[in-house]
Amino acid sequence: MEQPVQTEVWKPQTLEELIRILHQLFSGDKVNIDEVQTLMESYESKPEEWTKYAQFDQFRYTRNLVDKGNGKFNLMVLCWGEGHGSSIHDHTDSHCFMKILQGNLKETLFEWPGKKGSGEMVKKSERVLRENHCAYINDSIGLHRVENPSHTETAVSLHLYSPPFETCHAFDQRTGHKQKVKMTFYSQLGERTSSITLVSKENN
Ligand code: SIN
Repeated sequence: MEQPVQTEVWKPQTLEELIRILHQLFSGDKVNIDEVQTLMESYESKPEEWTKYAQFDQFRYTRNLVDKGNGKFNLMVLCWGEGHGSSIHDHTDSHCFMKILQGNLKETLFEWPGKKGSGEMVKKSERVLRENHCAYINDSIGLHRVENPSHTETAVSLHLYSPPFETCHAFDQRTGHKQKVKMTFYSQLGERTSSITLVSKENN
């Protein structure tokens, strides 16, 4: 009789352990999407482990680099003030894993617009992601907008992008027109990024 394939079950006890296992999973050339998603979901968020990365801005969500993943991935904490949201954007042919560390985030999925932009963009779905849930998207699934729907609570999420990327496209919901935007970090490894190196066109 055929034996079921034994898949290893990891349950990282700390953020540090999660990062260590992620380094192992990304050491080869292939990314096993289910494995990474299950791993990130199984980490139970503990604010004391990520609070040093969670730097908020009054006006827009922030991107805070946690780990450079040996050049294979970027891991970052995103901090969403009340009502903050991203543009509709693509992921530059990378994998995007998004785990909720605190609060809730609304993800709205859109279809790619036609070549020249074809008027109002088509919404595919909408869902609310709750604490510890880990979502996944790549360009073949579509485009998305991420928002903190709460006007009283902040939200924090942990994002992994592989391979890392520094630019993406932001889309105008009414026209479908796209614009290349540079992605910047508000802080890196717990240190606020110098304002001189910050570029104004962030992805929000
Ligand atoms: C996302 O793509 O999941 C959020 C946007 C960002 O990384 O700035």
